Amino acid sequence: MRSWNTGRKAVLAACVLLAGCGGADVEDAAPPSRTASALALAQVDHERIAQQLYLAYLGRAADPAGLAFFAGAGRQAGLPADMGVLSARYGSEPGWRQVLDSLAGSPEALALLSGDDAAAVTAMYRNLFNRAPDPGGLAFWSGALASGALTRGQVPVALLAGAAVADQAVFARKAALASAFTAALDTPERIAAYNGEGAAAALRQVLAKVSATTLDGDVAVLVDEALAAVAASPAFPKVQAIVRARCVACHSVTPTMRGFNTAPRGIRFDTPEQIRADAYRIYVNVVQTQFMPYGNQTNMTQAERAVVRAWYEGEVQDGAR
Ligand code: HEC
Repeated sequence: MRSWNTGRKAVLAACVLLAGCGGADVEDAAPPSRTASALALAQVDHERIAQQLYLAYLGRAADPAGLAFFAGAGRQAGLPADMGVLSARYGSEPGWRQVLDSLAGSPEALALLSGDDAAAVTAMYRNLFNRAPDPGGLAFWSGALASGALTRGQVPVALLAGAAVADQAVFARKAALASAFTAALDTPERIAAYNGEGAAAALRQVLAKVSATTLDGDVAVLVDEALAAVAASPAFPKVQAIVRARCVACHSVTPTMRGFNTAPRGIRFDTPEQIRADAYRIYVNVVQTQFMPYGNQTNMTQAERAVVRAWYEGEVQDGAR
């Protein structure tokens, strides 16, 4: 098995191949013709890269909208398919760094990696390779974070770039499961169910079952298991995520919707407490009258209304939570 140290050397070797990681190596040459560069771009599978980055930073599969968004952002930034190249030039390619940092700096990633540097490195190893770090790797990567030599946006791709063969195999199987799971989110009901931290945690548990010897047939079984686990996960975190996506643009202390300077009728859903306290009015307006979202300007789906209904009728009304 290659150690963290060899991994690090591989990253540095990639740097040397790229003429010092200083940036201007590609552009120094004669500019490629328009067709040649279009062809090169077309050959990079940005959905695949986006899915890998979701795993690396969030430890889970992308939802279809998130996948499309990050694939588009990656395509625009010209992200390379090679994690070694991506890692080596994180510092010199602002566009690449921006995509990685937007994932690393997302509230979800920050919550997932909320502990100290050693805890963050341990969580990254689990996200990527389904194992705890060896002591050498743990010391090296948390030391690099502590000294500021590397950022938390940098470490997951650096780990991937220098991964041992066995770790690469686990990651490839996890990525296959993640892609198959996202592809299986093909109905509004499944998409609505894969919302919020509870569903994410349920999926992470299934992804943790993957090993290097997981076969294609096993992946298909695990997809079904993941869909069931996500559907059965608690409703409130789903409602929270749905309210954040469909209501908070208007109902916030700082609305972002054009034409709304203050929260309509003073109703705000910025915190879980505010959502819980207004459960009945949310239920009436979202499920019964469907008066909200106002003019459905935020494109709430019927499946999302069904999640709100299941939450209210199942968890609130019964006094379960
Ligand atoms: C585009 C902006 C916008 C969005 C998005 C929006 N609302 Fe509203 N909401 C309003 C406006 C405007 C009012 C006041 C309507 C009125 O008084 O006629 C309102 C009023 C309400 C009320 C009080 C209604 C009553 O009569 O008691 C509730 C409850 C409410 N919204 C919940 C929600 C929920 C839940 C969502 C998300 C599913 C949501 N809203 C999304 C603009 C919005």
